[in-house]
Amino acid sequence: MLGNFAYCNPTKLYFGEDSLNYLNTELPKYGSNVVLVYGGGSIKKNGIYDAVMEILEKNGKNIAEISGVMPNPTLTKLYEGIETARSHQADLLLAVGGGSVCDYTKALSVSVNCQEDPWEKYYLKFEEPDCRLIPVGCVLTMAGTGSEMNSGAVITNRETKQKIGHVFASEEIMPRFSILNPRFTLTLPHYQMVSGIYDIFNHICEQYFSGEDDNTSDYISEALMKSVIHSSRIAIQNPEDYEARSNIMWAATWALNTLISRGKSTDWMVHMLGQAVGAYTDATHGMTLSAVSLPYYQYIMPYGLSKFCRFAVNVWEVNPAGKADEQVAREGLSCMEVWMKELGLTMNLHELGATEEMLHGIANGTIIMEGGYKVLNHDEVLEILKNSL
Ligand code: NZQ
Ligand code: ZN
Repeated sequence: MLGNFAYCNPTKLYFGEDSLNYLNTELPKYGSNVVLVYGGGSIKKNGIYDAVMEILEKNGKNIAEISGVMPNPTLTKLYEGIETARSHQADLLLAVGGGSVCDYTKALSVSVNCQEDPWEKYYLKFEEPDCRLIPVGCVLTMAGTGSEMNSGAVITNRETKQKIGHVFASEEIMPRFSILNPRFTLTLPHYQMVSGIYDIFNHICEQYFSGEDDNTSDYISEALMKSVIHSSRIAIQNPEDYEARSNIMWAATWALNTLISRGKSTDWMVHMLGQAVGAYTDATHGMTLSAVSLPYYQYIMPYGLSKFCRFAVNVWEVNPAGKADEQVAREGLSCMEVWMKELGLTMNLHELGATEEMLHGIANGTIIMEGGYKVLNHDEVLEILKNSL
């Protein structure tokens, strides 16, 4: 651990089958005007909407709703929500949904009282808010992004074809509380479940594949990756397995709640590539990551060989005896590929609707990060995208 860092995570979590009851504990802490934010209607089909509404009403809340928050929430939808939250004089924004709904609600929290254009301020200039924030609470229905316990909020501008995530520096933007009932995730379609699982795994990779020092975070990451691999194999056989689904949900939170990035530079290039793809295709987030991952990791492996060997041995249990480092590292990536195919992840961009003609635009929209083992140039980004097609 050679880095200097601060660590603070103020989100209070309630986990487990009984966790929704704790909404009763949280609601009295806030004023009476609640804006309930949700997606395209899954919560109405599976009963979560009714359960949440009952608790809100019992607590005497005055409720307004923002519904129809789409996967990869858009700037236009954010502008619409700002109007609703302003006119309702919101005291609490309650997100009930997956990462898209949580992200959107955090973006709303920093925008309702903002005097400037939020896209310009938060997503182009990456400024921190200087206005009064509206507190955010979250009832999570999908495991994957970690949005329930972090300060990230990804918004898509469809006009300019930009999908940009702002991970705010201030922990004030993190949800005040999040309710995690693994049973709520059981109605997820298979495609979303496996997409979320890969999102978790890749969040860990993004933080693991950086740095050369001996770092406690990397040991935690290896354990988390093993847990995700183990539980995912059970969940794809039996999606109703509560134990596996609960471990996946908990691993998702720890994969991106800022703990395992402490003292590390972190990579995030798979996410930058995936987000640029998402801006063009509106594809499911986890699948944009799976489509570009192997070409990316194969490309950077020589620059971070010892970490890729460690990944092979400690995560995938490759036996290194008598083998050259490069072979060990390659075997690790092969094991990862086998697992990804077992899950049924999308392994190429073509299946997500990307075409060769789009690749230049996607490459231009890819933000280059500098914390991984190789700082890519534009041609390298393009090559990786071509290899992912
Ligand atoms: O909209 P509804 O009808 O609710 O359906 C959703 C949506 O279609 C459905 N769903 C969610 N819970 C369900 C369910 N369907 C049935 N039963 C349930 N219990 O699943 C679909 C996908 O939901 P979404 O929220 O879009 O998925 P996810 O959690 O993967 O969130 C993706 C968004 O998060 C951003 C992504 O870029 C993307 O915009 N990310 C946020 C991060 C963060 N805050 O730190 C980091 C991530 O890397 C990621 O970038
Ligand atoms: Zn992600």
